[in-house]
Amino acid sequence: MENESVGIFYGIGVGPGDPELLTVKAINAIKNADIIIAPKTEKKEGSVALNIAKPYLRDDVEIIYQTFPMVTNFEEFHKVFEENEKEILKFLNAGKNVAFLTLGDPMFYSTYIYIFRLLKNSGVKIETVPGVPAFLAISSYINRPLVYGGDILTVIPATADREKIIDALKISDTAVLMKVYKNFHEVAEILKNENMSEDAVLVSRCGLNDEKIIENIDEHKDEQINYLSTILTRRNSKSTTARLKIVNLCEK
Ligand SMILES: C[S@@+](CC[C@H](N)C(=O)[O-])C[C@H]1O[C@@H](n2cnc3c(N)ncnc32)[C@H](O)[C@@H]1O
Repeated sequence: MENESVGIFYGIGVGPGDPELLTVKAINAIKNADIIIAPKTEKKEGSVALNIAKPYLRDDVEIIYQTFPMVTNFEEFHKVFEENEKEILKFLNAGKNVAFLTLGDPMFYSTYIYIFRLLKNSGVKIETVPGVPAFLAISSYINRPLVYGGDILTVIPATADREKIIDALKISDTAVLMKVYKNFHEVAEILKNENMSEDAVLVSRCGLNDEKIIENIDEHKDEQINYLSTILTRRNSKSTTARLKIVNLCEK
């Protein structure tokens, strides 16, 4: 049973960077929040999600920065999440509405999912507001259709095992590779071997001031890339051209 005097917990997707990509629902939830939780990583000051949402914040809103570790030390990871959950519950139990901001969509490879799981069983009212995931924003932004007809799309975190990445690519017409910052060189080589590097494009920090687009990933594979980088790719362009012709014919 939800308790009426307890605040609402909003998980809000703010999209990948452009503040105009927030939904009306997300903006309304932000305006209804007394407390904004701005997630940040251990390494960096400030919160990207908070910067995106800034145009919509109430003057009187209280901003709480919460640091979330990467999943390298499982015990430490749990401890920090539980402390953050406790802090959120304290605000909710005091009748405050709390909005947790998250990059892209909240249910898609997001820190929010861990906090959501912890709070789910505590009887608080949770409203999750979807956001535009980075890979879809990138696809529209660079005017590249992602999938059509019977295409199979796979979304691959580049942090997965090499064999798993290769197996996933083998069954894909189109692939999205997330979290490519750590092993960009290796990912670029795998894509080349799988005949998927010709049409690959990497976009870093889409919609943010220092956004970067790399079209020929093979030539750039030794560069250090930003954490917020995603690759969209499809199987070699010859088959793409043939298929486009078919799609064009169908549309006539
Ligand atoms: C923890 S996941 C968050 C995904 C996010 N929830 C979404 O819906 O897009 C982080 C990964 O998302 C991608 N990403 C998020 N924001 C991005 C941006 N502005 N530009 C490019 N890639 C981005 C990158 O692949 C990054 O490594």
